[in-house]
Amino acid sequence: MELGLKGKKAIITGGSRGIGLHTGMLLAQEGCCIAFCARGQPEIDAAIDKIGGQGNGTVVGFQADLEDGDATRAFVSKAIEALGGVDILVHNASGFDMSGDEAGWMRSFQVDMMAGVRVVEESLEHLKQSESASITFVGSMASKFHFGRPPSSYGAAKGAMRVYANELAQAHGKHGIRANVISPGAVWFEGGSWDQRKIENPKFYASVEKGIPLGRLGTADEIARAIAFVASPAGIWINAAHIAADGGQVASVD
Ligand SMILES: NC(=O)c1ccc[n+]([C@@H]2O[C@H](COP(=O)([O-])OP(=O)(O)OC[C@H]3O[C@@H](n4cnc5c(N)ncnc54)[C@H](OP(=O)(O)O)[C@@H]3O)[C@@H](O)[C@H]2O)c1
Repeated sequence: MELGLKGKKAIITGGSRGIGLHTGMLLAQEGCCIAFCARGQPEIDAAIDKIGGQGNGTVVGFQADLEDGDATRAFVSKAIEALGGVDILVHNASGFDMSGDEAGWMRSFQVDMMAGVRVVEESLEHLKQSESASITFVGSMASKFHFGRPPSSYGAAKGAMRVYANELAQAHGKHGIRANVISPGAVWFEGGSWDQRKIENPKFYASVEKGIPLGRLGTADEIARAIAFVASPAGIWINAAHIAADGGQVASVD
């Protein structure tokens, strides 16, 4: 199947490792030009090489902390200038905060939710000019399932993101803009949060692995494939949707 991604312009938040990096690599392979942000400059430089190695399109990476509203908006504006527009917006970065303290709530609100609002607001007029505009939020199954952790901001922020995505889809469908949320379950990649848990608590990691019907954690590339399809012109009829990409980890019907 042809995804129709050739020549499309994609902006990704948090593109220097994990799911964001693999999404950039896959979209570049499919012919997209990519602009992404992260905080760490050495990882940004390495990711530009990795993403750039997948295709022939423009690849740019900018340093920006998504907890900072002005820096977030400046990133999007530089990204749009570098790409000459935007067709695909992927809000992937997360505050990943499960501390439950006030600073954690603020971090999740700023990075998972408000950075999503800011990147959408900054790109909206440009998305309206695209023939195949899509906004994809990377959520989490923590927005629908209790994983036994103490209460924290992580799942709540991802839940708010789902409501916002639906509102965007309802409001901007008339402009040809779709909005969806893809929620991964547990995903392993070297240096990622589940790699850390595997090292720190191998028994717990093994129990999670055993609980997933396919007998393993997902990979960043597997999540990237779901994102690429939903964000692509081939995924045109997927709109206002929340899609689980968890290998059946959450044992529920919907
Ligand atoms: N991994 C999983 O098992 C899993 C499961 C469910 C959902 N998810 C969701 O999937 C998404 C990606 O997860 P991941 O595991 O690939 O994440 P990750 O390994 O933590 O990578 C996140 C990316 O975002 C950047 N980033 C983080 N905070 C940032 C900030 N404040 N400003 C700018 N950039 C920032 C990171 O670079 P810097 O650190 O250099 O800034 C990195 O490029 C997240 O939304 C997460 O909630 C992941």
